[in-house]
Amino acid sequence: MPDMLFTPRQIGSVTVPNRTVFLAHETGFAEDGLPTERDAAYYEARARGGVGLIVGPSSMLVHPSASNPMYASGYDPEVVPRLRMIAEACHRHGTKVFAQLQHTGGEDTGEHAMRETWAPSAVPSEYGYEMPKRMEREDIEEIKLGFAKTAEHVKQGDLDGIELKAGHDGILRQFLSPKYNRREDRYGGSIDNRVRLVNEVIEAIRDRVGEEFPVGIRLTLDEMEEGGYDYDYAVEVIRRLHPSLDFIDSDIATISKLHITDAPMHAPLGYTSEYYGAARELVDVPVIAAGRINDLTKANDLLEEGQADFVGMCRQLIADADTVRKVRRGEEEEVTHCIACNQNCLGGIHTKGHVGCIQTPRSGRETKIPHVEDVDPGDAGRRVLVVGGGPAGLSFAVTAADLGHEVTLREREDRLGGQSNIATQVDSRTEFGDAVRNLTNQLKARDVTVETGTEVTPETVDPAAWDEVVVATGARERSPDLGGPDVHRSWDVLQGEAVGDRVVVLDNNKHSAGVSVAEYLAEDDHDVTFVTASFHPGDQMEGTNVPPFLETLYEHDVDLETHSTVVGFEDGGAQVLNVYSEEVSIHEADSLVVAERREARSGLGGALAEAGFEEESIHRIGDCVAPRLIDKAIYDGEMLARELTA
Ligand SMILES: Cc1cc2nc3c(=O)[nH]c(=O)nc-3n(C[C@H](O)[C@H](O)[C@H](O)COP(=O)(O)OP(=O)(O)OC[C@H]3O[C@@H](n4cnc5c(N)ncnc54)[C@H](O)[C@@H]3O)c2cc1C
Ligand SMILES: Cc1cc2nc3c(=O)[nH]c(=O)nc-3n(C[C@H](O)[C@H](O)[C@H](O)COP(=O)(O)O)c2cc1C
Ligand code: SF4
Repeated sequence: MPDMLFTPRQIGSVTVPNRTVFLAHETGFAEDGLPTERDAAYYEARARGGVGLIVGPSSMLVHPSASNPMYASGYDPEVVPRLRMIAEACHRHGTKVFAQLQHTGGEDTGEHAMRETWAPSAVPSEYGYEMPKRMEREDIEEIKLGFAKTAEHVKQGDLDGIELKAGHDGILRQFLSPKYNRREDRYGGSIDNRVRLVNEVIEAIRDRVGEEFPVGIRLTLDEMEEGGYDYDYAVEVIRRLHPSLDFIDSDIATISKLHITDAPMHAPLGYTSEYYGAARELVDVPVIAAGRINDLTKANDLLEEGQADFVGMCRQLIADADTVRKVRRGEEEEVTHCIACNQNCLGGIHTKGHVGCIQTPRSGRETKIPHVEDVDPGDAGRRVLVVGGGPAGLSFAVTAADLGHEVTLREREDRLGGQSNIATQVDSRTEFGDAVRNLTNQLKARDVTVETGTEVTPETVDPAAWDEVVVATGARERSPDLGGPDVHRSWDVLQGEAVGDRVVVLDNNKHSAGVSVAEYLAEDDHDVTFVTASFHPGDQMEGTNVPPFLETLYEHDVDLETHSTVVGFEDGGAQVLNVYSEEVSIHEADSLVVAERREARSGLGGALAEAGFEEESIHRIGDCVAPRLIDKAIYDGEMLARELTA
């Protein structure tokens, strides 16, 4: 039992019941600038799951000059009852809630409000296109007033404290930054002057909420941008911060380097520890650690070693709302560990407009999908055969067992995992396999019969033995249209098929298979040319996953041919067509490796029906319906188990 993790700790006047924090992040559930019941249900799920402190709603905007429909408008008094709804929901479980106050400054677009963005100086962010307006003195006064008013709303909304965002985006950090703040007035030109706005904001807030109400800051400890500030500079900022601050929440990089702030699986667990560990030595107030913490036993060590006072987790608690209480009960094997794919949390915000997790259908859908513990196991005890031990079959089996069904899972390969066993062949993607490891750990704790090395055919199953059969047979890679002796499929190569020294990789897949096989071959000392018709490699992947791939490909001198495709491969040369200029060039190569789209292995369902299974008892889930991504496979599996129980 990680003891220190479960000890209370003060933040100013507030006692947080344990050392875990759900870090700030936008949810995408706000409507007309106001948090909704979806927000309350989302936060309550984490409070029920045992987290000590929630920083949310995040990015509550303090002034209409920063406008984004994803964020709550903290300056609007209408926000107060909505905050009370969230406070009540979380306080029921003993969890404290702080709001994060934000002005996005020049690091967002003015598109939503059709107006200019505001920033300390007319310096554009690397993140966007628009040139911000240099703020006048009266604009600065308005911003201070906005922070103060919003803080008052937070207190009126019964929340427990405030976090000011001077993190990877926002106006407060931009004022601190020598890159973004080029002013020569009392708000710029020296560190003292650049810190002035933050401290004046704190004073304005204190005037409204008093000295007792906790107020802390989320601070980027190294901007990691050319011309931006580094850790030594951050130390000087920290030394000058207002003495009434109650805590420091660590952050790293800026929004233009989101692959560092919200690092994908290329970065190791705890990759930011040297930053918060060093900051903790400087200050007397509590420090919150942040950055790929997903193992609470290791997190406890971090606390005991004095690297931080609180363990902040964002994605881990998006993935598994119950992480804290599972560990507290000694059920570590039940935890769904975040794999840092960023697909449905960050990616969800961009593609679906709300946060979610590839591994957890309920995450972000709390108002629609009840906690599995709250499901009435009405029609339980059905005898179910699951065909296929990929993510879809595993997900079904875990939830179906939870809901009281008798489940047998048959997998034709010797190990479970399906396509994830191929995806993990490249070193930088090994953690992708943890999605399957999480499910298999959970399966072991349940009464499910698992038979690997067992292919299911219509001849090997007796319809009378099963009430339901779940077909989760997945997909295979399509054969390339280009023929030739040395043309290979990416999956075969990732599984060890030999290729020549000089390889052209044609990426028709556009997600991770193409870049993965290129990285795999480059790391194995092949001379690689990567060809894609897209604007950049991996263009269907979530955005933060792309820069680490590019870094590795460049490091290995991979020749990147974008806007291009391969139209022929013969006589030791690939004919590469630029799809815009229509010019063809020849790239000498020994082998062509093609990463293709996939096709469903869809035949078994129909064959079982012909063999005597009732059509209504045959269910198809995951890629065998249509090849998509792992989140759909897991979603299909869990939702079918719930449907069979309803
Ligand atoms: C290289 C690569 C990279 C990928 N990267 C990503 C990524 O970054 N993000 C993402 O979301 N997705 C990714 N995917 C896709 C993801 O892995 C799949 O969408 C997911 O695995 C589909 O799950 P599934 O259970 O439906 O099918 P599968 O994973 O295909 O599993 C089906 C299982 O059924 C078994 N089976 C088939 N027929 C039978 C039978 N008759 N009897 C018994 N067993 C049978 C198969 O052996 C297999 O184990 C990647 C896939 C590959 C190959
Ligand atoms: C979907 C998403 C949205 C985020 N939004 C915010 C935000 O509004 N404010 C903030 O300070 N950090 C935000 N972050 C950063 C997280 O708080 C955290 O610092 C980062 O994810 C690293 O921690 P983790 O590895 O525990 O996820 C966001 C992260 C994610 C995944
Ligand atoms: S989508 Fe991926 S990165 Fe995001 S919480 Fe889930 S597992 Fe973690």
